Amino acid sequence: MSVLPSTHVLPSPAVPAAPSATPCGGSPAPAVRTRVLHAVPTVEALPTVVGAGLRVPTLHGDTAYANLDHAASTPALETVKAAVDRALETYSSVHRGAGFASRLTSAWYEQARAEVATFVGARPDDTVLFTRTTTDSWALLSKALPSRTTVFVFGSEHHSTLLPWGRSRTVRLPVPQTLDDAYALLEEALVDHASRHRLVVVTAASNVTGEVWPVARFAHLAHAHGARIAVDAAQLSAHRRIDLAAWDADYVAFSGHKTYAPYGAGVLAGRSDWLDAGTPYLLGGGATRSVTEDGTAWATGAARHEGGSPNVIGAIALAAACATLRRHARAIEQHESRLLARLRDGLDGVPGVEVLSIFGNDSDRVGVVAFTVEGWDSALVSQVLSVEHGIGVRDGKFCAHLLVDELLEDPWGEGPATAVRASIGLGSTLEGVERLITAVAGLVEHGPAATWTRTSAGWVVEGPDPRDVEVERPW
Ligand code: ALA
Repeated sequence: MSVLPSTHVLPSPAVPAAPSATPCGGSPAPAVRTRVLHAVPTVEALPTVVGAGLRVPTLHGDTAYANLDHAASTPALETVKAAVDRALETYSSVHRGAGFASRLTSAWYEQARAEVATFVGARPDDTVLFTRTTTDSWALLSKALPSRTTVFVFGSEHHSTLLPWGRSRTVRLPVPQTLDDAYALLEEALVDHASRHRLVVVTAASNVTGEVWPVARFAHLAHAHGARIAVDAAQLSAHRRIDLAAWDADYVAFSGHKTYAPYGAGVLAGRSDWLDAGTPYLLGGGATRSVTEDGTAWATGAARHEGGSPNVIGAIALAAACATLRRHARAIEQHESRLLARLRDGLDGVPGVEVLSIFGNDSDRVGVVAFTVEGWDSALVSQVLSVEHGIGVRDGKFCAHLLVDELLEDPWGEGPATAVRASIGLGSTLEGVERLITAVAGLVEHGPAATWTRTSAGWVVEGPDPRDVEVERPW
């Protein structure tokens, strides 16, 4: 392992303001002295995930689990687990107590917000909110939009980014054929739909094809027409840098469970004005400044939308993941591009395999590859990969039905067209990728090793399913 020498510590940027009120008449914001280090040394080694040595049962005995399903959810990092274990030792309420543990936990909560602010490249006056997931973040933003905001969204988006705005105020753009087509479609729509408040929503990386959308160019286009832009970074956060300021984007959302911190926290970050003026997301304790018989004064800043006791463990987990990903960014990118290149090259060499793409073969991608295998139902392919080879992938339409329908166009006219998706991350190995390529090639050449039957519940293997083992509950 080589550690590059940039280990100096820069002065800490200001920790974003704690909620502007003390919820439910509780204690003021904490004054516990803790330090947030915002410059982290670059480390060339890969961070490890919890469960890296997992072995799973297959028809042929147990084997190392080949995790190629990171686009659905990522395992926790060891650093995340360690941070959570440590935070649990002093766990207490956030912004609601005078005790030492409460003050420390409160300080860590706000420092987690500062760490996330750095991770997303937030500007000093942006608001950083802890939510549950990307879906939750968009639900929150949707509720906070000024009235009569028009939202522009491509049909290629994940459902959580496509749907929360409501049909009546959404201008849905077709799935584009090329990037130039996407710019033209958006520009035309912005010209055609003039309204005071407009929001463009685009993904940073597709959860189906992994293709990276040049969000800075979309931001430029949106702003040139007086619209704002919100970026879905759910599939980017684990792989590449998010940079609100450099992109000149207005909002960004991502999920902890896709960023090696599966502890129930997500993020919405961006411009404060709409968030401060919008309806508080969860009405209740923590979101208020004062409540009298005459009315309620709502807080501004993060507190406005974080009603209820916050998920501080989730926030700390996410901050730990953000810090680790920043520290190891270069090693992660090298690891993933090596595996992705081999995966794409290997699948290219298997007859009958088609890789899905919106913008074409040469487009920039993170490690997400959706594909079909001619003549084989994708649901069966993913079951065979699991039961016969110990490989975890996902099949279906990946909560992006419009996109998958458009890309597949039911190529063999044999009913519902779906795809298999292999996705790479820190839990993936080159051996796992090689195993997938060999398994798919074997399936094409001589079919599955076992006998499979399609039932109303899906594909079932003849004889006992090796995955039906008794495992002691974790509680
Ligand atoms: N949105 C997640 C996926 O793409 C769950 O699989």
